[in-house]
Amino acid sequence: MQNITIAIDGFSSTGKSTLAKQLAKQLGYVYVDTGAMYRAVTLYALQNGFVSETHFDVNEFVMQLDKIHLAFKFNPKLQFSEIYLNDINVEKEIRTMEVSALVSKVSAVPEVRYQLVKQQQAMGKGKGIVMDGRDIGTVVFPQAELKLFMTASPEIRAQRRYDELIARGDEVNYEEVLKNVQERDYIDSNREDSPLMKAEDAIEVDNSNLTLEAQYEKIMNLVSMTLEGQE
Ligand code: DC
Repeated sequence: MQNITIAIDGFSSTGKSTLAKQLAKQLGYVYVDTGAMYRAVTLYALQNGFVSETHFDVNEFVMQLDKIHLAFKFNPKLQFSEIYLNDINVEKEIRTMEVSALVSKVSAVPEVRYQLVKQQQAMGKGKGIVMDGRDIGTVVFPQAELKLFMTASPEIRAQRRYDELIARGDEVNYEEVLKNVQERDYIDSNREDSPLMKAEDAIEVDNSNLTLEAQYEKIMNLVSMTLEGQE
């Protein structure tokens, strides 16, 4: 059977990565979380003082981009690939509220997007990949055989994110998480370079009221149909 490329885009906390991991496991494909790449670049900018809530030295930061080395390494225990920033595992550090609050700012920079898109396209060269993000079906792989666009109401997404953060021991309040979700929706959808939008040929999946099992079944049907169409 021919390998395909599956592009999953959509708003934050719509369960893109959960779905992408399930599909990759089932199909034996590689999973790439592009949000983790933008988050790791943001962490670098934060750690090196280029960005904070009140300032962003874009020009100086862009000149440092070649010092940032990103890699994914498969963790057999967790059964997924974790992200390394200059050889350090930063999987946990990139998911803090501090990084979440700055990532949309950093990912709006065209030079950052150019570098990361190039790396993502290289990773997907051989197909057999599930990639999730905001511009995968529109910019990174416009030729992907299957494109999904995930949505859910902001309140439901904020509740999911809040539960995740609380479960890992972070001290957050729901209102703060909802505000972050809404702010990121706005910045991601309104930036000039590669804004978040549904590709014309993407299939929209609103999972506000779908269980994980129902969603998985629905999407696996779409995958099967796409694979059959390739034969
Ligand atoms: O998927 P996530 O919530 O971890 O992504 C974090 C941020 O990264 C998101 O708010 C926007 C940005 N992003 C992007 O601009 N393009 C992508 N392909 C993936 C993420």
